[in-house]
Amino acid sequence: MRRVLLVLAGAAAAAAAADAPEYGSDAYAACAACHLPAGEGVPGAFPPLRNRAAKIAAIAGGREYLISVVSSGLMGAMEADGMTYMGVMPGHQGSMTSEQIAAALNYVVFALSDEDAAAITPFSAEEVAAQQVAVKSPSPATAAGIRSKLVEQHANEWPR
Ligand code: HEC
Repeated sequence: MRRVLLVLAGAAAAAAAADAPEYGSDAYAACAACHLPAGEGVPGAFPPLRNRAAKIAAIAGGREYLISVVSSGLMGAMEADGMTYMGVMPGHQGSMTSEQIAAALNYVVFALSDEDAAAITPFSAEEVAAQQVAVKSPSPATAAGIRSKLVEQHANEWPR
């Protein structure tokens, strides 16, 4: 029974996503080891991205934050789905091109979203490269600083 329900839920999500752009999981392979293939994360160790990254991307400044995290990493205390994380994510700017970072973010936002994310503009390599240049002293701590400002400014919209 449970399996039938899961299959039905999957079919409904696939139908809802039919109009959204399609993104392959190739670039996301660099993320799946920690955030897991379906983006659900590991409670207390690796935060979930599923159904959260799209919400963050829709907030003013959220896209820049997402690019900074993937490019330069993230560290320090953060909350997601009511759980606290005190981890360190390594930056991927040295191992991934801006095309690959854009592709990974598009996978997270569009493929790992059960809600319709079609209103969100897809990430491009140019946008990633521009943000990488715009951030002064990029580091995991810098991204943490961007995060805490955004959470404060958008307390009502930020996914908890
Ligand atoms: C080695 C493990 C690891 C890998 C690989 C990794 N991450 Fe992370 N990620 C983490 C950890 C740990 C955190 C939380 C850091 C903290 O506690 O401050 C995190 C946080 C994040 C966040 C912030 C979420 C939020 O709610 O603010 C995003 C977005 C993210 N990762 C995306 C990615 C993407 C996309 C990739 C692949 C390009 C990736 N991560 C690869 C471990 C990883």
